[in-house]
Order: sequence, then C-alpha cells, then structure tokens
Amino acid sequence: MNYQWYPGHMTKAKRMMEENIKLIDLLIELVDARIPISSRNPDIDALGKNKSRMVLLNKSDLASENENEAWMNYFEAQGLHAVKVNSKTGAGVKSIQAVVKEACKEKIERDRKRGILNRPIRAMVVGIPNVGKSTFINSFAGKACAKTGNKPGVTKGKQWIKLNKNLELLDTPGILWPKFEDQRAGLHLALIGSMNDHILNMEEMAVSLITLLEENYQGVLEEKYRFTVDEKEELPWQVRILKAIAVSRNCVGKGGEADLLKAASFLIDDFRGGKIGRITLEFPESEA
Ligand code: G4P
Repeated sequence: MNYQWYPGHMTKAKRMMEENIKLIDLLIELVDARIPISSRNPDIDALGKNKSRMVLLNKSDLASENENEAWMNYFEAQGLHAVKVNSKTGAGVKSIQAVVKEACKEKIERDRKRGILNRPIRAMVVGIPNVGKSTFINSFAGKACAKTGNKPGVTKGKQWIKLNKNLELLDTPGILWPKFEDQRAGLHLALIGSMNDHILNMEEMAVSLITLLEENYQGVLEEKYRFTVDEKEELPWQVRILKAIAVSRNCVGKGGEADLLKAASFLIDDFRGGKIGRITLEFPESEA
C-alpha cells in the first residue's frame, strides 16, 4: 500500500465528497475498530452535517471485544448510530438494515408528512484507505444486488446499488484522508498498516507497540513469544523485550547477534494479522 496525501489529493477528495454528499441521505462512515479515533477523517463532521450518520467499527474481529462495546457506547453517546462488523466474514452486517432505519427515522417521517411514501434511502460509504470500504460494500450488497442505471438529471454518472426497496448505496465509496498530521494518529495508522512501510522506522514502531501492549495488555507478548528478558542489559526496557523476541524467534545475524529490525517486522506483522490476539490501541475513556 502506498497512500501519500498531498494538499492536491485532499482538495480533490473533499470536492468529490461534497459533490456526492448532495445526493445522499445517510453517511456510512467506516472506522478501524482498533483505532476508532485515528482512523476517522478530521473533517467528517463538517462534511456530514445535516445528514443521517452511522459509524461502522470495521475489522472488529481484530479488536478487543470489550473495547468494541465501549466504542459503540462512545459513538452512541455522541448521537451517532454505531455497529461493529467484520466485513470479511459478514459478521454484524445483517444487523445494519435495522440501524439504517433508525438512523434515518427523521427523514422517513419528513417524507411521510409530505405524502412521499417509500422513497428509498440513499447512502454512501466513506472512510480512509484500507479501512475496508470495498470489502464492506461487497458484503453488504451481496450477490443479490442489482445496479440501477443512471437517472438523468439527478444522478448522472452515478451508479447505485439497490439493496432492497428501501435502500440504495452509491457503488463507489468516498475515500478520505486520515488524521496523519496528529503524531499519535500517525503512529497508530502506521501500526495497523495504513501507511507506506518504506517511510517508517520499524524498530521505533515496534518499541511503541511494545509500550502500548505492556501498558494495556500485560502478558500477551510473553504468552505469544515465550521469551526471557535479560533485565541486566543497559537498554530501554522495550528494546530488551524486542531483543528477547528476536532471540525466541531466531532472528539472529551471522555473528549470533539479535536482528532487531527483523524482530520488529515480525512483531508488527503478527499484530496486524491478529496473531497476538484481539488488540485495540485506543480507548474511549482516554478520549473523553
Ligand atoms: P478499502 O476499500 O477501504 O481501501 O479497503 P479494502 O476493502 O480493500 O480492505 C483492505 C484490507 O482490509 C483487505 O485486506 C481486506 O480483506 C481487509 N478487511 C476488510 N474488512 C475487514 C474486516 O472486517 N476484518 C479483517 N480482518 N480484515 C478486513 P488485504 O490484505 O488488502 O486483502 P486480503 O488479503 O484480505 O485479500
């Protein structure tokens, strides 16, 4: 993956979003359940004002179940309808329909008062790159979906996926830039793999990941890698752990020295693939 956002890209993304948002009633915002704050677009509230809103905690299979629940409560307390999903398996996707209806209650009521009955809700999926938008659309729309043609004047050039008589989805998701200007967000986005690894220092990332894991999920690293840390070594404690992981995973150079870079890549790959367990990196209580 190689997403580089420049001001020009951001302006273009924003313009597309503003164009498409005029056509829809409901904004379905995907966030990564492991980093629900850092994976949001910084301008989403401004862009989505006056629209019905939903937040989907995608990749919830990779995040802590307790934290998934806590994040749903967090978003709901902000007046956003939230659902946790795993777009890859489809878990949770079925429950979205009912929430869509709830999120669009006011629009449905407004239509009813004006005598407009059964006008389908039009929705658009938005999110930062790699959050799972395409996977979600495929899962949500399923095989049964039929694409409606262009409707002259109103939706020229747009393709809508008719999910049922009550709901249509814009077939192309809105891609928005992440919060990369905030240092912590940048780190979290890098850890989940939403940045180009070539521009990152893997060892520094591994040290940050070890810090986060030891603070919030004590014991998971020991359980996964079964290492023994040399407490006497004069190194930062995180590096001692990284070194111990290197030894336990046989990441050693020709002279027998620990290959920290290799161990760092190992650790980060394991984290991204959910092999260390279901780990959430951001906690609603710290965002209050
Ligand atoms: P995008 O359109 O927002 O850019 O994201 P996309 O759907 O391409 O998904 C990005 C990656 O995230 C894909 O993995 C996809 O399989 C994975 N993914 C999407 N939703 C979920 C989910 O709920 N849980 C998990 N565990 N993974 C999810 P990939 O490595 O690029 O492809 P693949 O190896 O899965 O084929």
